[in-house]
This record gives sequence, structure tokens and C-alpha cells, in this order.
Amino acid sequence: MSDRTRRIKIRSIGIYLPDRVLTNQDLEKMVETSDEWITTRTGIKERRIASDDQVTSDLGVAAARMALDRAGLKPGDLDLILVATNTPDTIFPATACWVQKKLETREMPAFDLQAGCTGFLYGLIVAESLILSGTCRRILLVGVDVLSRITNWQDRTTCVLFGDGAGAFILEESHDDSGLLSHFWGADGSLGELLLLPAGGTLHPTDEQTVRDRLHYIYMKGNDVFKHAVKRMGESALAALKAAGLEKGQVDYLIPHQANLRIIDATGERLGLDKERVVVNVDRYGNMSVATIPVALYELQESGKLQPGEIIAMVAFGAGLTWAAAVYRW
Ligand code: ACO
Repeated sequence: MSDRTRRIKIRSIGIYLPDRVLTNQDLEKMVETSDEWITTRTGIKERRIASDDQVTSDLGVAAARMALDRAGLKPGDLDLILVATNTPDTIFPATACWVQKKLETREMPAFDLQAGCTGFLYGLIVAESLILSGTCRRILLVGVDVLSRITNWQDRTTCVLFGDGAGAFILEESHDDSGLLSHFWGADGSLGELLLLPAGGTLHPTDEQTVRDRLHYIYMKGNDVFKHAVKRMGESALAALKAAGLEKGQVDYLIPHQANLRIIDATGERLGLDKERVVVNVDRYGNMSVATIPVALYELQESGKLQPGEIIAMVAFGAGLTWAAAVYRW
């Protein structure tokens, strides 16, 4: 097992899921698709959609408040707000600053981290380093995306996949056996064009043409992304386990990024895990990008199954292309 003597731990988890449910049957009325196609190709049955008056920071603040309440803390007890998102309220200021404003905290650093669907695990790794270096004592890490705002609702190859949601961890140094044992992370920028939002940055600044060409939406070569996701998620989970000095048979629960049930199943098989050891909620929420892992861990905790000392492997993959895994002892 990892010989790391100092570790960070998750003090509490909060989540927020919008009330509005969009089912596969609803999508059948919007584009040429079927519940049967979506279910067999992705495992998704329904997803949540933010209301028109909600922005990304609203979902993030709701998850953050729940995490603070569950820890018995106030916003002023934090010393950094770190938000992983791909759908910021504004390109600048960072969504973390809007979250800070809405939480009415005292002054403290606040910034965003963007790494596709892998952003939450990247955030966990950054937070670990800031806490163990003594720079921060207690970090609010929020993973939130409102992908419905950047989804092309005329493109059946992508619009059936995504949903909106938020999750938050409060992180601090561990003073017991629990905590983050190891991580593994990587990226390959040469594959960036497989999954991107083409316009609105300096590459294609917003103008009438970019709007006409519908370049302000998610563009994905799903087939290619699928192959990389299966390969990288399996490899990352195994590398993080090795870094923790653990064998794959020692994993109690796998919490994979929820993009597609077939990718989740392939990752579970790579680790030799029975299905009941693999946490799945893609059927109910679709791909909520950075929110999938904290929401899945929250649901596992709430189920009452997770026992102290059990080993969790979290693994994610996304735009960049990026990937990461983290091994955690509960
Ligand atoms: N309904 C009906 N038919 C459809 C739909 C739909 N919604 N979408 C595509 N099809 C059709 C295609 O047009 C194609 O038809 P054709 O054979 O006549 O050309 C056929 O179905 C098969 O399409 P594929 O794209 O080959 O289907 P595939 O099995 O690859 O599934 C999917 C597509 C679900 C997108 C899959 O590739 C996938 O999950 N990719 C990975 C997604 C992912 O992991 N993303 C990373 C994270 S996302 C992030 O970072 C924001």
C-alpha cells in the first residue's frame, strides 16, 4: 500500500441536480432518434436540464452550500474556491469568482480549472498539492457544467448524450487512515480536435459567420473519442493503483466518469470488477462532464454501502484529450 504519510481527505460532498428531466422519449420528438438507439448505444434513459434562469455558478453554489452544511462549516471557513468547468458563466471573470460572490465569503483566492470531463480529478490533484504544501488548509472543489447551453439540439449524434449538474468536495488534510492514496494524470493535445467547442475563443472569435455555422456548440468525433476513452480510462486506473501499491483485485468500488455505459463496462472489466462494484448513474443523468464523479461518489455514500477503509478508484476522460485516475481509501 502507498507509503505516503500525508494525505488529503474528502471532508464532505454536496451535489445539485436541476429538477427538469429530459427523457429519451422527449428527444424522440426533437431529433430523429429512438429510446432504443440511445439506450443500447449509451445506457442513457434521461438527463437533467438547468432552468432558463439558472447559470453555472447557481448550480455550483447549491452543491457548495450542501457540502458546507454537511461539514458544519461556513463559507468563511474555506481558504480557496476552485471550480472545474467547461461551461463558465462568463469567459472571465472565472466562475469561481461568481461562486465566491454568491456564497458571500470573505476575500480568498478563487479560480477555474478547465480540462474537459477530467477537470474534477485534475482539480483534486491540484488541491492535494496546495494542501500538502501548506498553501491552503481547506479547499472547496466544485465540478459543475451546464452542457445544455452548448449542446446543438439539432445534432442527434451529440444532443442525446449530455446533462447538467454539479458536485462539490470540501478537502483538507487527513489525520486518520482515510484519504487520497495516489493519482495518475495525462493529456494528449494532438487529439484536441476530436472533441471541442470551436468558436468563441481566439481561434474563431464570435461573429455572424460562426453563429451561422453553429460553431458555438460541442463538436465530437464520437467513435474516435470512444476508442481513446476505453484505452485511457483502463490504463489510468491501473497506473493509479500501481502508484498506490495496490492490485486491481483490491478495489472495492470503481467510480468512472459517466459518458457511456459501454465505456464504463469496459473499464470495469479491465479492472476485473463485478458489476455491483462499478457505480453507474449515466442512465439517470447522462454525461454531466465534471459533475459525474462527485455525484456518483455522493450517491454511493448515501446508499450506505461504502465502508470505512474501502478502496475507491475514480477515473475520468475528456476533451483535451485528457485523462486521470485517483485511488482513495474511504
Ligand atoms: N439516434 C439514432 N441514430 C444515431 C444517433 C441517434 N441519436 N446518433 C448517431 N446515430 C447513427 C449515426 O448516424 C450512425 O449511422 P450510420 O451508420 O448510418 O452512419 C450510427 O448511428 C452509428 O453511429 P456511431 O457514431 O458509429 O455510434 P457509436 O456506437 O460510436 O455511438 C457515441 C456514438 C454514443 C457518441 C459513442 O461514440 C460515444 O459514447 N463516444 C464517446 C463519448 C465520450 O466519451 N466523450 C468523452 C467525454 S465528453 C466531454 O469531455 C465533454
